[in-house]
Amino acid sequence: MSVISARKPVRRTQSPLFLANIGQLVTLRAASDKPGPRRGLHLSELGIIRDAAVLCMGGKIVSVGTTKDALRDLWLKKSRRKITEIDCAGKVVIPGFVDSHTHPVFVSPRLVDFEKRIEGASYEEIATAGGGIRSSLEAVRKAAKSALAAKVLTVLNDMAAHGTTTVEAKSGYGLTVESELKSLKAIGEAASRWPGTVVATLLGAHTVPKEFRGCSQKYVEIVCKEMIPQASKRKLAQFVDVFCDKGAFTGEETEQIFVAAEKYGLPVRAHMGQLSETPLWPLLRFSPASFDHMDHVNEDDIPRLARRDIVATLVPGANYFLGLKEYPNARRLIDAGVPVALATDYNPGTSPTISMPMAMSLACTQMKMSPAEAIVAATVNGAWALRLADRKGSIDPGKDADLAVFAVNDYREIPYWFGANHCAMTLLNGVVASGN
Ligand code: NIG
Ligand code: FE
Repeated sequence: MSVISARKPVRRTQSPLFLANIGQLVTLRAASDKPGPRRGLHLSELGIIRDAAVLCMGGKIVSVGTTKDALRDLWLKKSRRKITEIDCAGKVVIPGFVDSHTHPVFVSPRLVDFEKRIEGASYEEIATAGGGIRSSLEAVRKAAKSALAAKVLTVLNDMAAHGTTTVEAKSGYGLTVESELKSLKAIGEAASRWPGTVVATLLGAHTVPKEFRGCSQKYVEIVCKEMIPQASKRKLAQFVDVFCDKGAFTGEETEQIFVAAEKYGLPVRAHMGQLSETPLWPLLRFSPASFDHMDHVNEDDIPRLARRDIVATLVPGANYFLGLKEYPNARRLIDAGVPVALATDYNPGTSPTISMPMAMSLACTQMKMSPAEAIVAATVNGAWALRLADRKGSIDPGKDADLAVFAVNDYREIPYWFGANHCAMTLLNGVVASGN
C-alpha cells in the first residue's frame, strides 16, 4: 500500500507484471504540455492505444505501447519466464479510479432517514429534526478504533473490486477531538492493510454538534485550536475540509478554519454550494485543492475558477440518492474551462455508493458529460484534486502501477452498464486484486 503519511507497505508483487493484448488501453496521457488539471476540450482526450501492453515493476509502470512493440523488446524476450503475464484480450484497461471525496468512517446506514425522504421530507428537514449527520455521531464516539478500521477496510476492498485504486477518506462523524482523531487513526489503520493509496482528510467541521447548538463559534475554536493542530502534529491528515452551507458552517467560519489549517501546514478543500450558494472568491486566497458538490455556484465565480487549478468535484450520487431533480451544471463549468472531477461522496446520508462507474453513469445521463469526460474526471482530475497527479491518474511510465481492467470491449460501456460491476481486475501500486 502507499499512504501519503509514510507507512510501511504491506506486500508488493516482486515479479514484473505484463498486461498484454489489451483491446483498448485508455492511457489518458496528456495530449498537450499544458500543466494542471484537464479542462475544456482536454477533458475528452483519452490517448487510446489498441492491442496494447503495459509492463509494471516494483509498483510502477515501466513501459506502455502496443503488444507488438513490447514483444520486440530484448529484455522482455529474455525475462519472459520471470514475468507474470496477464492476457487482457477483449478488455479495456484504464488508470485506477481516484475517488477524491468519501466519508467512510461511520457505523450504520441511515435507514429511517431514507424512508422519511421517500415520504417527502428533505435532507435539511431531516437534519433539523435530529436525523442526518448528528444521528451518526453517537455510534462513532462509542466505537473502538479497530472496529472503525475494519469497516473502512471492507469499504476500501469493495472500492478496489469496482476499479478504484486511490481514495480520499474523511473523518467527520465523531465531532469531538477524541473521536475525530480516532476516526483519522482508523483510516490510517485500514490504509496500512490495503494495497491502494489513501489520503486522509480532517472534516471536524462537518456540522455543529448539538452540545454546541447556539454557540457554533466555540465549536469552530475547538476545530481550529485542537483538532487541526493535533491532526497536523501527529500526521493523521493530509487535508482539512469544511461543510460550508446553510445549517453547517458559514463562509466566515470556513475562512477561520482555513486560516488555522494554513497555520498548521495542511492544505484545504471544502463542500461548497450543495444546498445554497456561498461566494467562493473569499476562499480563493487559500488555494483550496477542490470545491466539492457545486450545485449552487455564483456566475461571477465561474471565470475565477477557470483561471485557477482548483478542481470542482461533482458528486452526482448525492443528487440521485436524495431524489433531486437538479444536478450540478457540469456543462456550464466545463464549457467555461473549470477543471471538473467526479467522486462517489460515499457516506450514509446522501450517497451510499462505492461505485465510480455509477458516478460516471450519472454524470453522463444527468449532467450530460460525455463518457470520455467522465473517465478523465474520475481519474486524472481526481488525482489533481488530491495533489497526486505526479503519481496517479494516467498510464505513463514512472507513474504508480494503478490500473483497472474492465471486461468490456469499449470504454463507453463503463458508464453504460449502470448498476453492474464489470471490473475484472485491479492493480493497486502493483498489487493484483480481483474484481467481479
Ligand atoms: O457530502 N454535505 C455534507 N456531507 C455529506 C453528507 C453527510 C451525511 O449526510 O452523512 C455529503 O453529502
Ligand atoms: Fe461529502
